[in-house]
Amino acid sequence: MSIKDLLREHGKPPKEVYFDLENSGYVPDEVVEAIIPYFNKIGYGHPAITHKLGWEAFEVIDETKKLLARTINASGPEEIVITHSGTEANNLAILGHAIAHREKGGKILVSAIEHLSVIFPAEKAEKLYGFKVQRIPVDEEGFIDPEMFSAYMDKDVSLISIQLVNHEIGTIQNIRELVKIAKEINPEVIFHTDAADAFGRMRIDVKDLGVDMLTISSHKIHGPRGVGALFIKQGTKIEPILYGQLSSEKFWPGVENIPLIAGFRKAIELAFRDFDNNVAKVKRLRDKLMNGIIESVPEVLVNGPIGDKRVVDNANISFLYVEGEAITVEFSLNGIYVSSGSACTSRILEPSHVLLAIGRRHEEAHGSILFKVCRYHSDEDIDYALENIPIAIKRLRKLSPLTPPHLKGD
Ligand SMILES: Cc1ncc(COP(=O)(O)O)c(C=O)c1O
Repeated sequence: MSIKDLLREHGKPPKEVYFDLENSGYVPDEVVEAIIPYFNKIGYGHPAITHKLGWEAFEVIDETKKLLARTINASGPEEIVITHSGTEANNLAILGHAIAHREKGGKILVSAIEHLSVIFPAEKAEKLYGFKVQRIPVDEEGFIDPEMFSAYMDKDVSLISIQLVNHEIGTIQNIRELVKIAKEINPEVIFHTDAADAFGRMRIDVKDLGVDMLTISSHKIHGPRGVGALFIKQGTKIEPILYGQLSSEKFWPGVENIPLIAGFRKAIELAFRDFDNNVAKVKRLRDKLMNGIIESVPEVLVNGPIGDKRVVDNANISFLYVEGEAITVEFSLNGIYVSSGSACTSRILEPSHVLLAIGRRHEEAHGSILFKVCRYHSDEDIDYALENIPIAIKRLRKLSPLTPPHLKGD
């Protein structure tokens, strides 16, 4: 029986709790309701055309940019580019920089734990435009040592891309300090940070961080997928990576997806409404989940830092002796939805490059499960997960040939 058939046959579990927010998430009704009118009621014109319906469309883009600029303390909407995704924002930052600086060339520094939408374009910039890419190693919690970082820095470094928060293990990198070191050694260097997993979870101030470019993804804050943004500090030299026809802005050729951008705008409004209370709630629920698992399941490893340097919504736990894939299926039978490792790698069953970079062995990386908690979760959701997780792991460990005898008993 295939996994799909097994899941279908098992029927609906008594409760469903979705923790797979890293990969994609729940879009609340308020966001869906903000999207729908833009298909056929308002703003369905082309935003570059000067008639009423075009203006309404243009307003959506303009207001979204203004709102985003305010939330990250950019100087204004002209510093925000709306993209088709966080992936495109990262590609634009790296390949757009590489195209603009291809004659001079130089080095591109990325951390070893970047999202693949940073690592792959950096590799492409090396192949296509002759840049030299260096991957900066991290410690066992995902942090870059500032002293080691300064050893990588010199006048030949053209671009640095280091994420603010790691998407798998929740490490909050000290970007402010790294920017300071980098710019002291080379004032010309451009610093990009991927903030897809930081936005909406912590305050972001691009001026305080000192970054030149910053990536945001809509579906990471309960917006629709397929839309994102790149902050580009005024004066930063960057070329488009997409070319085409009439558009209201140079980086999005073709007709902008106004309904999705309207949904993104609503998701930003909601994420920043009652921000501090929401963040505190998420942290409390995440701590309850993580501590509850540590207390009730023997032989687990927490991946990533503990405490204030871990982003509030992330819990990443390796359950020893069992496979992540088996865990996602077993949990799913009970209505608990999680992912194993990173979605980008889970389908091809490669251990996560992030977990390997922090020194996890292959078998530890394979048994890793990523939970993301959000403001839509309740205490009952966490209680339900904590009731079911120990039972599911116990059952899987009984079946696993890797489980030592002391964990096989009842
Ligand atoms: C850190 C990080 N950057 C970029 C992305 C890509 O964003 P999107 O899914 O909008 O393409 C993701 C998505 O999972 C991510 O986790």
